[in-house]
Amino acid sequence: MTSLNATSETVSTLDADALILGFDGDVASHPQLPDEVRTAVAQTAAALEPSAKVGATTILPGTGVTATRIVLVGLGDASEGDLRFAAGAAARSCGKKPSTVVVAIPADSDAKASAIAEGALLGAYTFTDYKSSEDDAEPHATAWHIAGASDAAIERAQIIAAAVASTRDLTNTSPLDLYPASFAEIAHEYAGQLGVEALTWEPQQLAEQGFGGILAVGMGSSRLPRLVRLSWKPEDATGSVALVGKGITFDTGGISLKPPKSMETMKSDMTGAAAVMNIVFAAARAKLPIAVTGWLCLAENMPSGTAQRPSDVIRHYGGKTVEVLNTDAEGRLVMADGLARAIEEEPDVVLDIATLTGAQGVALGTRTSAVMGDDAIRAEVVEAAGEVDEAFWPMPLPAHLREELESKIADLQNIAGPAGGMLSAGLFLKEFVGDTPWAHLDIARPAYNEGKPYGFTPAGGTGASVRTMFRFLEKRAGL
Ligand code: BES
Ligand code: MN
Ligand code: ZN
Repeated sequence: MTSLNATSETVSTLDADALILGFDGDVASHPQLPDEVRTAVAQTAAALEPSAKVGATTILPGTGVTATRIVLVGLGDASEGDLRFAAGAAARSCGKKPSTVVVAIPADSDAKASAIAEGALLGAYTFTDYKSSEDDAEPHATAWHIAGASDAAIERAQIIAAAVASTRDLTNTSPLDLYPASFAEIAHEYAGQLGVEALTWEPQQLAEQGFGGILAVGMGSSRLPRLVRLSWKPEDATGSVALVGKGITFDTGGISLKPPKSMETMKSDMTGAAAVMNIVFAAARAKLPIAVTGWLCLAENMPSGTAQRPSDVIRHYGGKTVEVLNTDAEGRLVMADGLARAIEEEPDVVLDIATLTGAQGVALGTRTSAVMGDDAIRAEVVEAAGEVDEAFWPMPLPAHLREELESKIADLQNIAGPAGGMLSAGLFLKEFVGDTPWAHLDIARPAYNEGKPYGFTPAGGTGASVRTMFRFLEKRAGL
């Protein structure tokens, strides 16, 4: 278990395996170090030519301090974003050896102190569930002491980091173990502990109530689909938000089978649902004064004798019919049902989060998520993302592309032409939100880091969108 505390003691005399010192180019002016210590550390550091570039780390022996070693970390421009990134990089560079770490990165506001704590926890994340040797399975540092932070800053950081870590865990989990029914069980288990109401639609109930999209996508698998509703409803709620998440626990493409290379990362196709679940739980933990309902659209997209065919016409929740021309465009099919059901409850706003299109990565790359939808809500998401330093970029929903979704025989077809694939997917979803203020978040590539770790982001599941959605809720709640 990782523990995180604020400390107001002198950082140089705290007993620790590592002391992380923020480095702005001049150790001799570090405000959290006593004078005599500064000079000693500055002298040792000088020989190693440390860099002040954000996240650059330099490791020194523990000269003049109680800690065994010192990690200097560059702070860049020392903005909230750079501080979070730097703390994450420093935490990662501590590796597995230290079990107690003191973080002395100066912050001139509580928000910055919270960002530092958050970055450290996010950077220390490891996923070792499937490692069989004890050595590999060892976690990163277990006790973190953040200098100069308030208890409130620490608590907020802990809530957010837990939501991100749990989202990463689910993304990283083998799809042999994570499938619609097991996902739903996890949701119920945590909901019970947090005062969140949980409700699951079993396959038969999905059929009786007309969830044709979730059923069509899920029926090719022996592990049948589920829809889960999670609700945090405080008495002092000032408004309501619905969140709908794509939870394809594995996306083979179905009968429109993906090539092997494209399938390698498709265990990450449930990240939207994992993010939604953890955001509802984070809202409950933080007791945010706003009602939040999460919808998890869970299915495994497999090819088989019971799978849907390209050409099938399905009927979505609410009655719209769709001609399925490509079974690999399955995300929009499960999301259409989820959105149609979510808006029935008349939330103030609905956000949907999905690893929806490869086109997202073509347009924006591997680290920048897209947000589409109503101008006002889209702007709110971009603003919330900016405040927590998560990369979200506004994208349009050009009306002319809507024509490409016209089907010859049904109300809609599930694919459009090759140009603007992320946008036509957004336009498809728009058909299911009615008049409810709405934004669509496409996190396809940012949800899963296929490259090297950086800052507080590990390889594998990243937890993309969680921090932005939490900030979105806080702002909606007037915080
Ligand atoms: N899950 C994929 C999208 C995806 C691709 C996520 C790469 C992460 C990385 C989605 O279900 C999909 O297969 N989309 C198709 C849509 C196409 C058939 C219209 C795609 O993007 O190729
Ligand atoms: Mn697909
Ligand atoms: Zn998919």
